Amino acid sequence: MLRTGAALAPALWLAGCGTLASTDRAATGSAAPLPPTPAFVPVPPQFTDAFVVASGYTWDRIATWGDALFADVASLDPLDVASGSFLYDDAAQKQARRFGANCDALAYFPLVPGDSARGVLCINHEYITAELTFTGLPASGRLRAASRRKWIEQHPGAVAWMQAAHGVSVVHVARGAKGWQIMPGNNTRRVTANTPCEIAGPARGAELLRTNADRTGTLVLGTFANCAGGKTPWGTYLTAEENFPDYFGQARSWAESTDDMLARHAQRRFHAFDASPYGWEHADPRFDARVEPREPLRFGWIVEIDPQDPAAAPRKRTALGRFMHEGANTILAPDGRVVAYMGDDEQFEYLYKFVTRAAFDPKNPAANRDLLDDGILYAARLDADGRGEWLPLVLDDNGPLNAATGFHSQADVVIRVREAADLLGATPMDRPEDVEPSPVTGRVYVACTKNTDRQPRETFAESSGRRVDFQVNTSNPRPANELGHIVELIEADDDAAAMRFRWNVFLLAGNPTAPGTRFLVDATALVPGQLGAADTYYAGFGDASSVSPIACPDNLGIDPTGRLWIVSDSNDRTRPNNGCFVVPTAGRERGMLRQLASGPRGCELCGCEFTPDGTSLFLSVQHPGEGGTIDAPVSHWPDGGELPARSTVIAVRREDGGPL
Ligand code: FEO
Ligand code: CA
Ligand code: CA
Repeated sequence: MLRTGAALAPALWLAGCGTLASTDRAATGSAAPLPPTPAFVPVPPQFTDAFVVASGYTWDRIATWGDALFADVASLDPLDVASGSFLYDDAAQKQARRFGANCDALAYFPLVPGDSARGVLCINHEYITAELTFTGLPASGRLRAASRRKWIEQHPGAVAWMQAAHGVSVVHVARGAKGWQIMPGNNTRRVTANTPCEIAGPARGAELLRTNADRTGTLVLGTFANCAGGKTPWGTYLTAEENFPDYFGQARSWAESTDDMLARHAQRRFHAFDASPYGWEHADPRFDARVEPREPLRFGWIVEIDPQDPAAAPRKRTALGRFMHEGANTILAPDGRVVAYMGDDEQFEYLYKFVTRAAFDPKNPAANRDLLDDGILYAARLDADGRGEWLPLVLDDNGPLNAATGFHSQADVVIRVREAADLLGATPMDRPEDVEPSPVTGRVYVACTKNTDRQPRETFAESSGRRVDFQVNTSNPRPANELGHIVELIEADDDAAAMRFRWNVFLLAGNPTAPGTRFLVDATALVPGQLGAADTYYAGFGDASSVSPIACPDNLGIDPTGRLWIVSDSNDRTRPNNGCFVVPTAGRERGMLRQLASGPRGCELCGCEFTPDGTSLFLSVQHPGEGGTIDAPVSHWPDGGELPARSTVIAVRREDGGPL
């Protein structure tokens, strides 16, 4: 398999990739004595249609799209997907009782504190991949919009089914002799694109959030495009609405003809479609911008879900701003205030954090319930000298955000956060995805997945409704950055609530031993304008032969020992499959990034969520088979045979039961 893969791969990518011999040296430490981190031989780059994990490790299949979550429904038969018959009759009602599609973020909540064998798992269902779901779906490319409309008209239940496959699953899980499995439990829940959600925080009731169906601007149906996520110190789940503009049709022509200038202006920093990629507007007028032009403004938020209370409405926490949220990861400041770090995943968009006004009180759960409704949202400016400043996004008569600049309330600021951050001079980044603070060191890691439009020289151009300089800078130093990088932030005084920070580039991803590229060891060499698009840097680690290649870092996690875990999302099919990697952030092994696992063909991996004892790692295997279709598949994972590929949540463990 490896030989086959190597033959298919471009020389640039695979040539010189860590071989077993070289990684053996690293694992045994023959070059120099290393501290005892779990010794595994890294997984070489893979093209195989399998989940491959390093020797000494194993994995459990926990939940697959279509698995029954309630006793009153059977699990989806994958043969029914291949035939299309799963869309018959009460398809949407059944799907709303089954595990959703395209699992993404995961969060584990122990049933009792510290329990690493029984808990509740919250899982996002970001979207559906139509070509991997619907057989007979015609043509892509320019013909797609018309053919999709026709297909939806021929399958009138498909839109309700898609809405039921989105959202969040809350499931009980337990680890037994057979590994991790789903268990029946009182907290089991599905949140879908039609579940009533409360709008909370400064934009609750705002005129811009009022629609024909909700004249109060307080209650919205559903959450969708739920990408990464996070957890609060009080045990709730944060799910992030990311690519919400993809769900609305007729939005471009509406914007060109409407006289509702307020709503039009509020949406100008996001893309708009006439024919949406999912086609919901053909069956549900809520997604037709001509009918409900303000409905899109009710998405793009961080949504809080209480996994202990299946009856509680999810709450959209508008104080955390409206953008294409990748996730929200929290940490406590020394004074007990809660800080959530967030990325806006679009090229040339910003890095954010939110700091609560009040401190977390572990003894008073009721006082924590609405902590996320009151605080200060900041956008980050990263300066060329390695310092940075958090810029408060607050209505202020003496600052840039006030009536003179078109902001009349804090609701205006949080609804039009991108525009507010433009005015404050935040730094446009290379698609900030997951942003993860380390509970061990307090340092913060920002995954910038890629930005192929980054230019070597000053180039002002339009991006998401405003003109911006596409030129490389010190924090986004690579031109045509197709491999991505990670930035490390160190808050002033190690205080997550600080206004200032220092930063450095932690990783320039790529293949460190590819011919014609440089493996940089000295941080002073990371000079914008002098870097090649495939030059790499692994936090100063010096041995290119003992690290793994990686492309497009996306989700991050920190294990209980403080090591950084990274999963990748490269959609270049000439590259090896996406994988899961671990890298120490301190000590002599800082930067020694190694691949623990590889996903099947076409997938991205999501998650990096650990049990409290660090012995289990939960991952989502999202969209296996991407690049193929259900009629011409490139993957049959995880069922094998001729069955369709399906997104699946797994847990990775060491065979000896020890921490990963
Ligand atoms: Fe849904 Fe930014 O990945
Ligand atoms: Ca992601
Ligand atoms: Ca991604």
